[in-house]
Amino acid sequence: SIDFSTLTKQTGLTSLDYGFVNTAATRSSITYIDGEQGILRYRGYPIEQLAENSTFLEVAWLLIHGELPTPSELSDFDERIRRHTLLHEDLRRFFDALPHDAHPMSVLSSAVSALSTFYQDSLSVSDPEQVELSTIRLLAKLPVIAAYAHKKSLGQAFLYPDNSLSFVDNFLRLNFGTLAEPYEVNPVLSRALERLLILHEDHEQNASTSTVRLVGSTQANLFASVSAGINALYGPLHGGANEAVLQMLAGIRDSGESVATFVERVKNKEAGVKLMGFGHRVYKNFDPRAKLVKQSADEVLEALGVHDPLLDIAKELEEVALADQYFIDRKLYPNVDFYTGVIYKAMGFPTRMFTVLFAIGRLPGWIAHWREMNLDPQTKIGRPQQLYVGSPERDLGR
Ligand code: ACO
Repeated sequence: SIDFSTLTKQTGLTSLDYGFVNTAATRSSITYIDGEQGILRYRGYPIEQLAENSTFLEVAWLLIHGELPTPSELSDFDERIRRHTLLHEDLRRFFDALPHDAHPMSVLSSAVSALSTFYQDSLSVSDPEQVELSTIRLLAKLPVIAAYAHKKSLGQAFLYPDNSLSFVDNFLRLNFGTLAEPYEVNPVLSRALERLLILHEDHEQNASTSTVRLVGSTQANLFASVSAGINALYGPLHGGANEAVLQMLAGIRDSGESVATFVERVKNKEAGVKLMGFGHRVYKNFDPRAKLVKQSADEVLEALGVHDPLLDIAKELEEVALADQYFIDRKLYPNVDFYTGVIYKAMGFPTRMFTVLFAIGRLPGWIAHWREMNLDPQTKIGRPQQLYVGSPERDLGR
């Protein structure tokens, strides 16, 4: 193996790599991706098998601990998470201080950051028990915080978690239940959401995970690191793409513009016009998650009895783009975000909640990476180099 930091010191060589296209920042044994073949595996298990047969918490355990849980490990894990879902009443009131039209992603990252103030016992990053406790707290509380961000945007009362419900069902009830009447979980909706969350659980060194690792490399605690990851996810080139896709589809529908004309504008690189939900830094053939999500979109909309013309527009866009030389030459295919928004919309989530759902899904991956980094004796504080191209020394002249 090559120690690049020693090599750099010895040779004085620095590589300039915008966007870290060729630079590995770490070794990792969590997730394997083959971008040419469209392969994604968590700890060696194909994503297709996990999405079909596992639960969100089982996969979270797998990512974090490296092996599938035994039945008793899984039930203990689930039980501990259920016991930590309540938010401190002061944290509930924290939401009152934010404007009702705040973007839920901003609310989410602020509230997660605020967890550091409520759980100061969790700030030790070298104590395995405290790290485990922070892990449980985050997994338990992030869905509650997310649902409160949603309720706040609607001006509706917050519900307390019902810990007799599963992770996903509790989340659905917190979002769609009201104080006025009992909430019946629709099993189709519940399984579809669980599947989508599993598909998002990890994706190796993407922008938000790299952010979590970079922040964590300073020995900042899990809450601070995950809050930074949520902010990185917010951008439309990353997790925010699922929201941007829906806005793009609605824009095409509302303007009456044909799909072909829109695609021409994309190809002409008109300012601000991109085919959102297309393209990926790593996948250059197809995104295996997108294949599964597309299949889900048809099934879920049918099961919920929803016909959404936006799904028709999305399918037409995909068909036109995949047959077009511009997209073929650049190896641009639908990514995981292309069809998720249509499903979330059918489930009843407002567009501004889409990236929040992504964040809940990605949380186990962020935690797994933070913990892997924290235990790796080779970890150093992340500190990229730069090539200075500014002014040479000049005199202030005073
Ligand atoms: N629409 C139109 N053209 C595109 C798109 C797109 N969605 N994506 C890439 N291209 C073009 C670029 O303009 C560039 O063309 P050029 O060679 O003529 O200049 C070429 O394809 C290569 O694109 P890059 O931007 O260099 O690719 P990069 O790997 O840096 O970016 C990214 C990947 C950010 C995902 C990009 O494809 C994109 O912006 N997609 C739309 C946003 C999106 O869907 N993001 C979600 C990604 S998945 C996720 O985070 C979960």
